[in-house]
Amino acid sequence: MPSAHRWRVSLAAAAVAVPLTLVVPAAVPASATPPPTVAAPGEALADDLLVIGHRGAAGYRPEHTLASYELAARMGADYIEPDVVSTRDGVLVTRHENEISGTTDVADRPEFAGRRTTKVIDGVSLTGWFTEDFTLAELRTLRAVERLPDVREENTLYDGLYQVPTLDEVLELRDRLSRELHRDVGVYIETKHPTYFDAAGLSLEEPLLADLREARMDRANSPVFIQSFETTNLIELDRAQVRVPLVQLLSGSGAPYDLVAKGDPRTYAVLAGAAGLLEIATYADGVGPDKNQVIPRNPDGTLGAPTALVDDAHAAGLLVHPYTFRNENTFLPPALREGPADDDYGRALEEHAAFWDAGIDGMFTDNPDTGVVSRALFLDAMAPAA
Ligand code: G3P
Ligand code: CA
Repeated sequence: MPSAHRWRVSLAAAAVAVPLTLVVPAAVPASATPPPTVAAPGEALADDLLVIGHRGAAGYRPEHTLASYELAARMGADYIEPDVVSTRDGVLVTRHENEISGTTDVADRPEFAGRRTTKVIDGVSLTGWFTEDFTLAELRTLRAVERLPDVREENTLYDGLYQVPTLDEVLELRDRLSRELHRDVGVYIETKHPTYFDAAGLSLEEPLLADLREARMDRANSPVFIQSFETTNLIELDRAQVRVPLVQLLSGSGAPYDLVAKGDPRTYAVLAGAAGLLEIATYADGVGPDKNQVIPRNPDGTLGAPTALVDDAHAAGLLVHPYTFRNENTFLPPALREGPADDDYGRALEEHAAFWDAGIDGMFTDNPDTGVVSRALFLDAMAPAA
């Protein structure tokens, strides 16, 4: 019996918000246990299975544009997902990474040719153009382009139409759409490369909290999640008694960069184990694993048996929101592919069904309309016979 839609969680929250002073993160040794979070007054959330519009509706529009977020909400996504990075003047804008040659037309702008440079981001050398080298005014002159033109050729129709949005604009959009659609459209905000931006003097968390406060979205019942692949900034947000829920992202390989930088040996695999999840539960309210950490693929290309992750996370009091569900063959288990082309749609509904059955509490998907349909099919199947 899937536990998801009747399962509740106590949010890590406090009744009174305290201004966040995020200075240089204190080292957290592997053995240290952060102080427990304060339970919210009453229980909240998690009665619903969430469809989260990944980078908006990235299957249909260039990602992280207002058009992509708006389409996701209109398709029925409960939450839209902005990833945030900083400009040179400290404004949060929504991009999946701070290197923007893959998602904007910056490489075609002769006026910015001199900004092309090489940097080491989270230990990886990258050459391109970086948001922190542009003021917001400069960044606004660029236009978004489709990241995956070979897989999503249709989306290139919209290349050149949309600006890089600020987080403020996304919050305004979600407010307008919530009123129009007569339901709360949530935001599921990811801080990208927080250690890197701290070192650059452009810490992400203070402007993020300021933007939420200004939008009156910093309350315990605000439809907001804050997520990170790193641990330190989530622990600090929790210690600062941020009232919205926090989600620790996990990965099928590697380790959080903040832990790597501190010489902490813990990997994502360690964090995804039962003990690791109990430790995450001391500062976060959910985990966002790679979907393969929930249901791995068999060597023959079929979906395998679910791992213990969902049960272990629920036992620790954590929500489970895996990423990323996409309709195209190239992203599906081989056994669910249909047709000859990588960009043909496969049997994505079957993939979704297996994950709802496994007890997940929500999913990040580039195709929110498909997520809404699969959720309805699952809930119908679970409903008691009349
Ligand atoms: O944040 C959930 C999911 O978006 C994580 O992956 O790389 O698409 O940000 P990514
Ligand atoms: Ca993300």
